[in-house]
Amino acid sequence: MEVIKCKNYEEASKIASDILIQQIKEKPDCILGLATGSSPIGTYQKLIEAYQQHQISFQRVSTYNLDEYIGISRQNDQSYYYFMHDHLFHHIDILEKNIHVPYAEIGREEECCKAYTEALKKICVDVQLLGIGANGHIGFNEPGTPFDQETFVVTLTEKTRQDNMRFFGSIDKVPTKAITMGIQNIMAAKKIVLIATGESKKEAVKELLSHKISTAFPASVLHQHPNVVVIIDKASAQLL
Ligand code: F6R
Repeated sequence: MEVIKCKNYEEASKIASDILIQQIKEKPDCILGLATGSSPIGTYQKLIEAYQQHQISFQRVSTYNLDEYIGISRQNDQSYYYFMHDHLFHHIDILEKNIHVPYAEIGREEECCKAYTEALKKICVDVQLLGIGANGHIGFNEPGTPFDQETFVVTLTEKTRQDNMRFFGSIDKVPTKAITMGIQNIMAAKKIVLIATGESKKEAVKELLSHKISTAFPASVLHQHPNVVVIIDKASAQLL
């Protein structure tokens, strides 16, 4: 695991976007695994800038997102489908057919999970972008999730719902369930880039870099992957 300590969120976004830009330049038909949340927004902004400056094109790039809430429609501005279009897809030349955001239709959840896992097994993600939850979750793999888990429906922990309440306004509006790539699917990527910045991530960064591997802290599985870059900043590195 390579750890890059930088100044702040801006610099972290630059480092992460440079890795993705280089990947797209080297392999224009690459497959990117993408995340939502606050961590990757700056990275997406820099990818949009690189596209606008004609450095890269997404015409042949495919994307697979980590997760999606259950019980809200794709048109809802809190859905991850909406988020990805708003923060990235609407601003680049990616083809809609190459965009994959998991979706679990109520009543057909199992089938939807299986279909996403099957789709993931047919490809190999070149670079997977990740954020990290304060409790160590990656995707929505909450503490206790087995490391061999594939795409599944998760009941979100109270901690995760509270952390995400800032986007919804009140706790009762935060969905209780989500569909997420499992840890095994995430680990299948050739390279993983995790962004963990800001003070609210300081405990998680300390735990991750303690090198203890346990399902109690899902991100610790990344120590078992041969090609991981963790980008931290001064604020998240405070306890190291
Ligand atoms: C988002 C995701 C989550 C977030 C994590 C950190 O697709 O899978 O694991 O990466 O909750 O969220 P932020 O970046 O908002 O702190």
